[in-house]
Amino acid sequence: MTVEDTRPLHAPRAAAAGGPGLFVTFEGGDGAGKTTQASLLEQWVRSGGRDVVRTREPGGTEVGVRIRDIVLHHRGHINARAEALLYAADRAHHVETVVQPAIARGDVVIQDRYLDSSVAYQGAGRVLDADDVRALSLWATDGLLPDLTVLLDLDPTAARARLDADDKPFDRLEAEKNEFHARVRDGFLALARREPERFLVLDATEAPEVLAARVRDAVTARLR
Ligand code: TYD
Repeated sequence: MTVEDTRPLHAPRAAAAGGPGLFVTFEGGDGAGKTTQASLLEQWVRSGGRDVVRTREPGGTEVGVRIRDIVLHHRGHINARAEALLYAADRAHHVETVVQPAIARGDVVIQDRYLDSSVAYQGAGRVLDADDVRALSLWATDGLLPDLTVLLDLDPTAARARLDADDKPFDRLEAEKNEFHARVRDGFLALARREPERFLVLDATEAPEVLAARVRDAVTARLR
């Protein structure tokens, strides 16, 4: 099955599952500007007096930092299913110990990457079954979906130029070829088409302040 066939098996349940908080995730290819946008949103939400938990996957917990080191920096082959399981393990621990408690307290969780990254990178990118990858993450997280997912869409060639300008250490996923990143991009866009209420798709070539305003509008519409 392809990403296109992935059906939303579980309705969003962040509110029902955890209480009064809000769960916002940023997705997109490497170099799309997720971190910049997450930071701008964090500043804005804090300035409104709301508590924010800013976190990321992989690596949002102490256990996750160790898993992150394996998936991003292991030099040599990692079996594709093992890679998917490592991301899912990171996610399971992170949701139980960080994300769900924050939602239950009423905080706004702003997170770089979540399960859509697994469906796009391990599903579309590594060509595992997208439904299997999604089901694995939903099992790992007891079905938790974000209230809002911002997809920063960027052509992989433009993304590569941005990454090359940075001086960052070797990352196994970033080092993949352009075709891989093109599949990842298509995977993300297919996911957004399936769940238009959850996703806000933005053109990452727009100015950061323009993008930030669109994100703020979408968050305002969902704030509880
Ligand atoms: P990220 O933290 O965004 O990298 P950086 O800090 O270098 O910008 O993401 C790390 C990499 O992990 C990225 O290439 C995407 C990949 N990834 C997956 O393949 N599957 C997943 O489920 C997640 C969360 C990330």
